[in-house]
Amino acid sequence: MNLWRRLSERDAAEEAEPPDRAKRENAAAAKTSFVPRLDIALEIAAVMARIVLDPRVTFAIAIAVAVLVPGRTGELVTAFFVAFGSLLVYRAERWRRIPDHLRWLGWADLNKPLLRRLSLEAPGTYAHTIAMANLTEAACNAIGADGLLGRVGAYYHDIGKLRKPQHFVENQPRGRNPHDKLKPSTSASIIRSHVRDGIELAKENGVPRPIRAFIAEHHGTLPISYFLAKARERDDSVNATEYAYPGPIPQSAETAICMLADAAEATVRSLADPTPPAIRATVEATIAQRIGDGQLADAPITLRQLSVVREQFVRILTGMYHGRIEYPAPVRPLAIAPKPDSRASA
Ligand SMILES: [Fe+2]
Ligand SMILES: [Fe+2]
Repeated sequence: MNLWRRLSERDAAEEAEPPDRAKRENAAAAKTSFVPRLDIALEIAAVMARIVLDPRVTFAIAIAVAVLVPGRTGELVTAFFVAFGSLLVYRAERWRRIPDHLRWLGWADLNKPLLRRLSLEAPGTYAHTIAMANLTEAACNAIGADGLLGRVGAYYHDIGKLRKPQHFVENQPRGRNPHDKLKPSTSASIIRSHVRDGIELAKENGVPRPIRAFIAEHHGTLPISYFLAKARERDDSVNATEYAYPGPIPQSAETAICMLADAAEATVRSLADPTPPAIRATVEATIAQRIGDGQLADAPITLRQLSVVREQFVRILTGMYHGRIEYPAPVRPLAIAPKPDSRASA
């Protein structure tokens, strides 16, 4: 009997007996329900590290032991906890990031459901996300900010584009733009909503607040310039706030760098001829524009640190987009066309 007919008969039989099918599916789910959850293990490790590395906890234990355990043993244990607490105070600056680091490591996993969806449903956004995560992490590390938080925040910053990926230019096939059929106000509303949608998706998936800040702050209160200009061509009296992102402006050095990396990566990618001077000029102009727009007014980042950030961006973007060798066209077409026989069996 034909294989496809047999398969369709089996499907029909299973549909006729839904309870059995449901039972089998539940049993299969129960069999595969134990999946090692590295993210949960890292969350637990982060909580444990926070307790162990808190000198207040150590000194409290030392006092409790001194009061409750009499004799030489109590003295020795108290001395140990006092010494350990003193070490923690001395190393506080260096070790304070360990619990957060453990936590962000769990969210840096590219197999997380939201990031897997992004790679499959919005591949252009995913590529942009990976590129700017490298920029953000390098620049954060160079100024002493939290590089891992910067990387993870960059991974999630555009997650809201999952709701309507085809409305964002990096996911559009050449010549197909759904905005051509929409009013500028509708287009601006869709573009703007990727921030709100991102925060919603992140909350639904339990993404922690410091990572959600990257979603909310990466566009600050910037105008959606393209659609604002288009709307003004039709009507000069349009309300500019309807064409602006909701904000807030970046509140930390990491989210400020994410905002700059987002703009720098997208602008350099659009250059027709990304020579090193053109890349440098674009990065400088992007950073100067964000400062001029007042978008970095709340971020704890100095002009000196911004010059370090700029140099990191120029170095990485030059490596990414410059120096591609144009290969000469092959003299003869490569003989890789399938033979008629092999095509028949495919
Ligand atoms: Fe965005
Ligand atoms: Fe982005």
